[in-house]
Amino acid sequence: MKIIVTPSQPYSDQKPGTSGLRKKVKIFQQEHYLENFVQSLFDTLVVPNDAVLVVGGDGRYHNRQAIQTIISMAAANGFTRVLIGQGGILSTPAASHVIRKYKTFGGMVLSASHNQGGIHGDFGIKYNIGNGGPAPEKITDEVFAKSKVIAEYKISDLPLVDIDTIGETQFAGAVSDQTFTVQVIDAVQDYADLMQSLFDFKAIRQLLASGFEMKFDAMHAVTGPYAKEIFVNRLGASTDSLMNCEPSEDFGGGHPDPNLTYAEELVKIMFAGENALDFGAASDGDGDRNMILGQNFFVTPSDSLAVLAANATLVPAYKNGIAGVARSMPTSGAVDRVAAKLNIPSFETPTGWKFFGNLMDAGQVTLCGEESFGTSSSHVREKDGLWAVLFWLNVIAVKQMSVEAILKAHWLEYGRNVYSRHDYEAIPTEAANSVIAHIKSQFSSLPGQVFGSYTVKLCDDFSYHDPIDGSVSNNQGIRVLFTDGSRIVFRLSGTGTEGATLRIYLEAYEPDSAKHHLDAQVALAEMIRIALQISQLVEKTGRVAPTVIT
Ligand code: G1P
Ligand code: ZN
Repeated sequence: MKIIVTPSQPYSDQKPGTSGLRKKVKIFQQEHYLENFVQSLFDTLVVPNDAVLVVGGDGRYHNRQAIQTIISMAAANGFTRVLIGQGGILSTPAASHVIRKYKTFGGMVLSASHNQGGIHGDFGIKYNIGNGGPAPEKITDEVFAKSKVIAEYKISDLPLVDIDTIGETQFAGAVSDQTFTVQVIDAVQDYADLMQSLFDFKAIRQLLASGFEMKFDAMHAVTGPYAKEIFVNRLGASTDSLMNCEPSEDFGGGHPDPNLTYAEELVKIMFAGENALDFGAASDGDGDRNMILGQNFFVTPSDSLAVLAANATLVPAYKNGIAGVARSMPTSGAVDRVAAKLNIPSFETPTGWKFFGNLMDAGQVTLCGEESFGTSSSHVREKDGLWAVLFWLNVIAVKQMSVEAILKAHWLEYGRNVYSRHDYEAIPTEAANSVIAHIKSQFSSLPGQVFGSYTVKLCDDFSYHDPIDGSVSNNQGIRVLFTDGSRIVFRLSGTGTEGATLRIYLEAYEPDSAKHHLDAQVALAEMIRIALQISQLVEKTGRVAPTVIT
């Protein structure tokens, strides 16, 4: 093998966002674009001898081509072995597991998560460190700095590598005596084994055999093959409990985002009145998100995290209890109430899974979650869609209660943190910035102001001080906190690829069980009006309604 040093020009836009570098496919297809980013990353990492890299993606358009480039560059940058999911496919949680199980140096996950795929869609690349979790900001900031001055990259002259046949291919290395090995691994078995080691598969199998009807929607994305192995082969579910389980490069033309708007087909089945099934779930493009539905009933992700924490000891892996919980700042405080009752710590971190890694490595938390349909535990260092689905099935199998009954009982015990998120997608960046600037300009005047039945207590731009490594992350979202504990959070998305996406997160606490049945949009109507009044969003963006409400 020869190493070819190729001259290149820097791009100015390779700043990783909430979860890696995400851009339109067309941007990634520009000359040397991917190569520049990968080289900046390898230069940041300082690759040791005998380093092994895991590479896999969610199968979206451009995945296979990008994998060939990364293999060739890994060979030229000191890696001696690359582990590839068969067909180039690995779900994000499965990649995290493979990195941990085989104690590799790190891994590259090729995905733009829930963003649309296909030639006109998005592509993305994210680096995960040896603990299996997303690289911390210290690394991603340095990669960005290097990408702005890069002048050349190193690539080898390897031929196209077979990534579809399980097994190893060896190549003579650039240095004599050294070999470079490409190992194609079964993407599904390791992960399915991990799930089986955590949950009570016998109890779930009995539940599914008892007439309990479920539907899992893989949204034409990466979890399809995992779902077939786990639900059908190992848990005995019928094949019609699964839908959209053939992964496609453009996710069947859809938006692989498991929420009430984009998982429309599943929502219709689960809200079919008397004909609705007992349990419905969906996961996203790369398999790290989940949505949980009961019969005619939606579980907000914030509530889901709280319910899982409260019932963790019903699951074999957590039968001795959990060490602590963590949630991203915009996620509702429902899980904090459970932690208080269990007398375990709860942490509030910025948005993005990378902030949970240190807490889990230090053994301070076991369960983590985000309001954006992300839940997981320390079994990996990523959020994990199928894990959340299995957790719910395990809890239902033990409690023998419906999803709705579990939620109602939970609210009765803890009160309800009524919650909703309103997204305004693809607004012109300037208009979005002016909304944020307008809210910030009121920081000193808002406290004490009365809006209908609410009084502002304080407002700030959230900062996080990592208790483990002491790092500080500023500007993580604007919080308007009210005296009764309700709050409104405004934040610009760090994963969008078109204009800006403004998210408004609304939360109010309702202790009165007579009001727990109310629809969140009705219960939060006044807060929604206040959010629009404070932000002047309609006036500044011309948008009269959110794109997505969850
Ligand atoms: C969004 C979610 C965030 C999640 C991220 C990656 O980021 O809000 O919770 O970690 O996707 O899945 P955002 O677009 O808000 O920056
Ligand atoms: Zn995802």
